[in-house]
Amino acid sequence: MRIILFGPPGSGKGTQAQLLCNKFHMPKISTGDILRAHIADGTPIGQKFEKMIAAGQLVPDEEIIALLTERLQAVDCQGGFLLDGFPRTVKQAEALDKSGILIDCIIYITVSDEDIITRLSGRWIHLASGRVYHPEFNPPKVPNVDDVTGEPLVQREDDKEAVIHRRLQIYHRETEPLVNWYRERWADKLIDIAGLGSVQAIQNAILKALVNKEQAS
Ligand code: AP5
Repeated sequence: MRIILFGPPGSGKGTQAQLLCNKFHMPKISTGDILRAHIADGTPIGQKFEKMIAAGQLVPDEEIIALLTERLQAVDCQGGFLLDGFPRTVKQAEALDKSGILIDCIIYITVSDEDIITRLSGRWIHLASGRVYHPEFNPPKVPNVDDVTGEPLVQREDDKEAVIHRRLQIYHRETEPLVNWYRERWADKLIDIAGLGSVQAIQNAILKALVNKEQAS
């Protein structure tokens, strides 16, 4: 399976992506995680984009397309993958289309801006894996510690309230138009998911929609 998960920042893409990838044993390809790993390692890419990401801006299309293209050539992607956070502009979607990689389904998660602000201002992450937590909605087993490695959790620079507002503005301007772009081209592959409810209820809705799509094709 080759899946795209998209939606506003904080809509639960990373949370749902992790559950789906565990279930289907496929790699989660998150362009945000790739960029944060570059920043943590102090690579030239990380140094170039650190301020831009902390300010909530999008990395230029050409450079993110190059990063993603390189990642998708890895052996672990040959049997399928899940894209979390790519594409984020029509130009990125066009590049993916032109690459000839056939996507099986596009899951579009919607959540209101108000709920997103509540979620993101309480988010904690495990930097190395991208696993995400929230003290109220998705708490770790031990406070402030990653469930799998026991390592400490951190807050993201771009989860400050002013930056969240900026990310939402950019989402509505640059990424939301992708919904119609996909509806016009791949309506049969698009799955709309309301992202409000418990993490498990949303996961169940996604799994049900995937089964329905499989049966219809
Ligand atoms: P990225 O890391 O992709 O950030 P994002 O898209 O803004 O998405 P988030 O990770 O903030 O949210 P999410 O939807 O994954 O939600 P989550 O599951 O964590 O990108 C970061 C930056 O990198 C971008 O701003 C940009 O600069 C750059 N970048 C990345 N890709 C790019 C691209 N393609 N082009 C250009 N630039 C790019 O959940 C959020 C919180 O809510 C968590 O605390 C979670 O525990 C909680 N939660 C989850 N589900 C629920 C639920 N059902 N109910 C209540 N709480 C929930």
